[in-house]
Amino acid sequence: MAYSDKVIDHYSNPKNVGTLDKASKSVGTGLVGAPECGDVMRLQIEVDEATGLITDAKFKTFGCGSAIASSSLATEWLKGKTIDEAVKIDNMDLVEELNLPPVKIHCSVLAEDAIKAAINDFRSKNGLEQLVFEDNGVKIVTDLKSFLYLVNTELEFSDGLNGKGFYFNNPNASRSCG
Ligand code: FES
Repeated sequence: MAYSDKVIDHYSNPKNVGTLDKASKSVGTGLVGAPECGDVMRLQIEVDEATGLITDAKFKTFGCGSAIASSSLATEWLKGKTIDEAVKIDNMDLVEELNLPPVKIHCSVLAEDAIKAAINDFRSKNGLEQLVFEDNGVKIVTDLKSFLYLVNTELEFSDGLNGKGFYFNNPNASRSCG
C-alpha cells in the first residue's frame, strides 16, 4: 500500500504536534484509541471565550502514518472554526483530502473521534453539555446553563384566535416579549 503525497507530507512534517494545558477551562482534550490496531491519539483544542473560535489545536499520536496525517490535518482544519462548525468535521472529509485507502479509513475515524471527545470535554468543563428530554411526546434540546432558567416551565399548545402553536409557560419569567 502506497501512501499519498499528502500523507507523506503530514507524516514527515506534522503540523501542531504538542500539548495544551489540560487543566485550563478553555482547553478541551480528547484521548481515543483504535481497537483494531491499538493506536492512540490525543487531540486538544483551545477556544477563545470572547469569540467562541478555536484559536489553537495540538495533537500527539502514537500510530501509523495515516493516523498521524489525519490528526495533523484535523488540527489545521480546527483552527478558526467555532465548536459547532468543528463538530461537523467528518472522517470521510479527511479520507478524501488525504486519499486514504479503505484499509486506512479507521485511522481517520480515530481523528474524528478525537475531535468529538475534545469538544465534549470542552463543553462539559464549561457547562455546555446538551440535555435532551421528552415531555408528552415532544423532544426538547437545551444546554445546562439554559436549563436552569427552564425549571418548572410547561410547554403548552395554543389553538386560539392568534393562530396555532407551541409556547413556553415559564413561572420564573418576569416579563415576556410574546
Ligand atoms: Fe491504526 Fe492507522 S493503523 S490508526
